[in-house]
Amino acid sequence: MGVQVPRSDISGFYRLRPEERLKLVKEFAGLDDSEVEVLRQAGALSLEQADRMIENVIGVTALPLGIATNFLINGKDYLIPMVTEEPSVVAAASNAAKMARAKGGFQTESTLPVMIGQIQLVDVADPLVAKERIIGETGRILAKANEQDPVLVKLGGGALGLDVRILSSSRGPMVIVHLLVDVRDAMGANVVNTMCEAVAPMIEEITGGRVFLRIVSNLAVHRLARARAVFSQEVLGGEEVVEGILKAYDFAVADPFRCATHNKGIMNGVIAVALATLNDTRALEAGAHAYAAMEGRYRPLSHWYRTPEGDLAGSIELPVAAGVIGGATAVHPVAKICRKILGMPSARQLGEIMAAVGLANNLAAMRALATEGIQAGHLKLHAKNIAVTAGAEGELIDVVARRMIEEKKVSYDRALAILKELQNGQP
Ligand code: MEV
Repeated sequence: MGVQVPRSDISGFYRLRPEERLKLVKEFAGLDDSEVEVLRQAGALSLEQADRMIENVIGVTALPLGIATNFLINGKDYLIPMVTEEPSVVAAASNAAKMARAKGGFQTESTLPVMIGQIQLVDVADPLVAKERIIGETGRILAKANEQDPVLVKLGGGALGLDVRILSSSRGPMVIVHLLVDVRDAMGANVVNTMCEAVAPMIEEITGGRVFLRIVSNLAVHRLARARAVFSQEVLGGEEVVEGILKAYDFAVADPFRCATHNKGIMNGVIAVALATLNDTRALEAGAHAYAAMEGRYRPLSHWYRTPEGDLAGSIELPVAAGVIGGATAVHPVAKICRKILGMPSARQLGEIMAAVGLANNLAAMRALATEGIQAGHLKLHAKNIAVTAGAEGELIDVVARRMIEEKKVSYDRALAILKELQNGQP
């Protein structure tokens, strides 16, 4: 008998209680009792741990951690930990992943994890000569950079190349050196910044210019993750739904106002995985949106088309500066467990997972928008939140929420009124 491979298409997962879900995730990911205990405590980050992460700590805030089911990525099943404050995001990802399964799930790939460090050189007498000199000294500059992190080099990473660009600016020409660094499993900003600072004096000496900024670029064009999937016409709901989704996509292609929201829907997924694994969400957002504008116009990060069979095919490509070692990822107890739930991915695999989840959220949003509209799904959880805000507790939360949805009137006032009726014994 072969080894049983755990599957992520767990039917009715959303209907279970958190305790029951936790049990299933424990089995799926092989979590031990102490890890389950960490997840059970809603505020698992201690004040002491928090105090080592940022300055002036006075407390810890918590966000919900949900699990998206059904993900099949490169033939392997994944349960996806997602942290978000927004209702519907986890359900949307799970639904889209379920639809993708029918045609084999998501296929992903990525480039090497190469980050860019920028060194800004000013007051250069002749930028072209400076550029030539820097290129001529590439070997020496890379060696100096690599001296900063022998462990990274040992792991197969390190500084591997230079790009030199000449920019014109209102303060005259600037020579910009891009130090290209394979950061392996780190997010990489730290090592890149260290290397840039270390080689700066050498670049001044080589060119006679003055180095100014030395900092990582979040437009990580050499660190790309890609995902693609096919969604069958039948599963999506028919030809009209496919056409509706393509109309939604074309709207985003044609209009930056729509495109910002289209890409926001993608980042709903990407960032939820980033938060679960405690990655730098601002770096990911900045990189993604700058990449979307690389061609001189802001464009969707995803691409959708109809296959000759009439199905819907989608792909996504975005820079993913996300790591699995170092920084906060190594400290936060829940982030560590989330990585375990994901099967301890490398940084590249994590980026690919993020791309797949982003594509899933994008599909789900477009399908909802092209059919029943986005509010139907949103409202269910929103109504529960409103019911709680109005003071409902226990079973009353669901009762109040359901009544508001049936009446198609979800508001704080209505929740208060229904609650009052119920408390006064009225039906
Ligand atoms: C909401 O968080 C995200 C959507 O607005 C994305 C989209 O419009 O494509 C639903």
